[in-house]
Amino acid sequence: MKKRLRGTITVPGDKSISHRGVMFGSIAKGTTELTGFLDGADCRSTIACFRAMGIAIEQEKDHVIIHGNGLHGLQAPTSMLDVGNSGTTTRLISGILAAQNFRCELNGDDSIQKRPMKRIMEPLISMGADITSLRDNGCAPLRINGRPLTGIHYDSPVASAQVKSCILLAGLYADGETSVTEPAISRNHTELMLGGFGATIRSEGNTAIIQPAEELYGQQIAIPGDISSAAYYIAAGLIAEDADLLITNVNTNPTRAGILAVAKAMGGKITLENERIVSGEPVADIHVTSSNLHGCEISGDIIPTLIDEIPIIAVMAAAAEGTTTIRDAAELRVKESDRIATVTENLTAMGADITPTEDGMMITGGKPLHGASIQTYLDHRIAMAFTIASLLCEDENSLDHPDCVTISYPNFYQDINRLLQN
Ligand code: S3P
Repeated sequence: MKKRLRGTITVPGDKSISHRGVMFGSIAKGTTELTGFLDGADCRSTIACFRAMGIAIEQEKDHVIIHGNGLHGLQAPTSMLDVGNSGTTTRLISGILAAQNFRCELNGDDSIQKRPMKRIMEPLISMGADITSLRDNGCAPLRINGRPLTGIHYDSPVASAQVKSCILLAGLYADGETSVTEPAISRNHTELMLGGFGATIRSEGNTAIIQPAEELYGQQIAIPGDISSAAYYIAAGLIAEDADLLITNVNTNPTRAGILAVAKAMGGKITLENERIVSGEPVADIHVTSSNLHGCEISGDIIPTLIDEIPIIAVMAAAAEGTTTIRDAAELRVKESDRIATVTENLTAMGADITPTEDGMMITGGKPLHGASIQTYLDHRIAMAFTIASLLCEDENSLDHPDCVTISYPNFYQDINRLLQN
């Protein structure tokens, strides 16, 4: 692959914020307008679910207008809700559905049907919810019989924004305060955005606390670029032989920005420019240039702030001098694929030195790499990480299912090819 990479790139809107904008707008009163919306398959699943519950949603690419019906304005869907490949849709919507005055069922693709839902079922059940895994395996398809809910305090065993957000959304409808404590802080978009919609919600250390709401009110939200998509260009800019990239309008919320600290710890030449606040979220332009990377240790509280970036960080590690150790990341095993296994399989196929562990991996960089047949397991982040990994080889990787990038970044290949031609 060509090793020269130059230019300016604006990545698509943040996936987590896009989902939340549609969900909160649907249960708010009045109009919510989203600009910079991520027009990818996952966020389209969220739109489809709320349309199926009677919400009028207009979408023109990255511009979305939601005509919310208020907290109690959803209608029973007439068929199974289809969450597609989206864990965020499944888990967050379940918190809302648990409190409605109707019964419904939801299901998604093969990957969703393997992902753990007990982590939301247990706390929801302790709030009084009636939620069942139809195959009794703790996974989707789920049936939810809406019921009145009770506020709880939940000590979550995992740092998961999906679990936290599910419980907080159920808490909007509960009869008293609801709070969630996590072992480390996960992304806090729900807390920031629900406050903007008028909910009484606050954070104290690792605990998020919400009061029941009478009504939420429609908002205008400018959604910044997704740092999880920017991560592919951060890595590309650092590992390519001759690179100078400016990635504009990226969300740099500290609960998401662990990759910036890791890039610096590995010796990457990376700077933030034009730092500002947009719709309550920190945003910056990120400038990266070719760097000689060295290995580092990544563990503890930083893990939830870069959990989706670990496949591409593993590629950076394969290009770095010395060993990179990733620990405390067992959550990787329950993402769209088992990312400890899928990163290991594919980096090994390229000739890298990688050892998987129970909760992470060890990678010793600097081995000569070659293009390989990449098994994506239909995981968008594996497809994008191993496209960038071709920058480390003379020949290119070939992917079994390149199209799976449509989940979070439909124009990924066009964008990277443009930067390679500059
Ligand atoms: C997300 C939270 C993360 C992340 C996912 C999106 C969200 O999952 O992996 O891509 O929008 O809340 P967990 O919170 O379960 O780790």
